[in-house]
Amino acid sequence: MGAGENKLYYGDNLDVLRRHIRDESVDPIYLDPLFQSGQDYNASFRAPDGSRAPAQVRAFKDTWTWGHEAASNYDDVIEIGGDLASAMAAMRSFLGECDLLAYLAMMARRLRELHRVLKPSGSLYLHCDPRASHYLKTLLDATFGPYCFRNEHMAASALADEVWAVSEDA
Ligand SMILES: C[S@@+](CC[C@H](N)C(=O)[O-])C[C@H]1O[C@@H](n2cnc3c(N)ncnc32)[C@H](O)[C@@H]1O
Repeated sequence: MGAGENKLYYGDNLDVLRRHIRDESVDPIYLDPLFQSGQDYNASFRAPDGSRAPAQVRAFKDTWTWGHEAASNYDDVIEIGGDLASAMAAMRSFLGECDLLAYLAMMARRLRELHRVLKPSGSLYLHCDPRASHYLKTLLDATFGPYCFRNEHMAASALADEVWAVSEDA
């Protein structure tokens, strides 16, 4: 890829990171990952006149269960060792093998890859919400070091089905 060219990858971000992105090659990283909302999301289609059509497809799932895939994600993090493995083991000891731990194991593998590809001078912005933000911050501290944390931005928004919701960009 020549200087100034952009490239869009489609696929599982763990696979893309491992296969295509060099160590310490990325300046800014922004991620708006799954939030562990416990919901699946559909995409709606619009009719040619712009009105909402009844057709929908499943856009993405944000429901998690502890099972073979989650255990494999967890084992992968533990095998590499270091602070990230210690943080995951600590979370397992008090959360147990649950949906939340499955989500965190998925995120931990990806945060480790993001650490590998981020330049020492780069910045990472993680968009999440209060359901898992405190655990994610701990995983970030374990991955990047606690003194790399810079700031947390909070935004309030009213959602149709909730009186109050807070989302965080940290
Ligand atoms: C919270 S949504 C972000 C939506 C996006 N920022 C937007 O405004 O449209 C999370 C997105 O991550 C995608 N996603 C989930 N797991 C992924 C994975 N392993 N690799 C790549 N993308 C994934 C989902 O398909 C979904 O589009």
